[in-house]
Amino acid sequence: MNMGSGPDLTDLRQARLVELVEAITAGLRDVVETHGVTEEEWSAVLRFLTEVGVNDEFVLLSDVLRLSVLVEALSHPDGAEITPSSVEGPFWRPAPLLDEPATLVGEDEPGERLVLRGRVTAGGRPIADAELDLWQCNAEGLYDVQLPEAESPRYRGRLRTDADGRYEVRTIVPPPYEVPKDGPVGRLLGGLGRHAFRPAHVHYRAEAEGYAALTTMVFFAGDPWLGDDVIGADKAGLTVPIDRSRTPAQATFDITLARPGR
Ligand code: BEZ
Ligand code: FE
Repeated sequence: MNMGSGPDLTDLRQARLVELVEAITAGLRDVVETHGVTEEEWSAVLRFLTEVGVNDEFVLLSDVLRLSVLVEALSHPDGAEITPSSVEGPFWRPAPLLDEPATLVGEDEPGERLVLRGRVTAGGRPIADAELDLWQCNAEGLYDVQLPEAESPRYRGRLRTDADGRYEVRTIVPPPYEVPKDGPVGRLLGGLGRHAFRPAHVHYRAEAEGYAALTTMVFFAGDPWLGDDVIGADKAGLTVPIDRSRTPAQATFDITLARPGR
């Protein structure tokens, strides 16, 4: 969830603001009363939330409580013939247009080589010149923005579909990775006995004139964390097999876009 733009809470219609704040308050009061929350426990909650704010981890908290995924799903309901959408996550950055052959993670990087390809269509027809923006982590499970040497942009790039709606990119099979767990949200996960793993995935943003933009991600069959994504974003319909009978390994992720307003 990108917090960079959008209205301030107090820009909401007053009736909507009252509705939401009263509902949240009623839910919290119910928890306090039903579970007999003590003064010490409530102080601990307030100290924790303060630390979450100081560490800029409210988005991460929303992610691991699986609220980001829920809000995204309500805003972008899946349609029968459309590729399911997903959350953007915190690691999208502007990326360069890649030269041919489009390479996300180069041969100089460790990792299992993968050719990732697919076709962008709408209503059964190819979409030529659709722009795809892809980003992923390296073989250590790190995005470029998490690397100390800040040699950005890496492991990300934009490409355009050909006349037949096809795209192809050279990369590596990304590993599953843990969301940041060195702050208060990580401590919460540990306290709850929860892991911090996301199944391996590659993020996509697809845009084409006349169609609704789509943010999504592709997962890979056989991943041990599928069905147990810490942020709950591993939707059915976004998992593709990896064909390892060929070298390099190959995977196909086709994308179906919708007309705006669908
Ligand atoms: C990601 O997929 O990049 C991501 C999403 C939520 C929290 C952390 C990472
Ligand atoms: Fe990711």
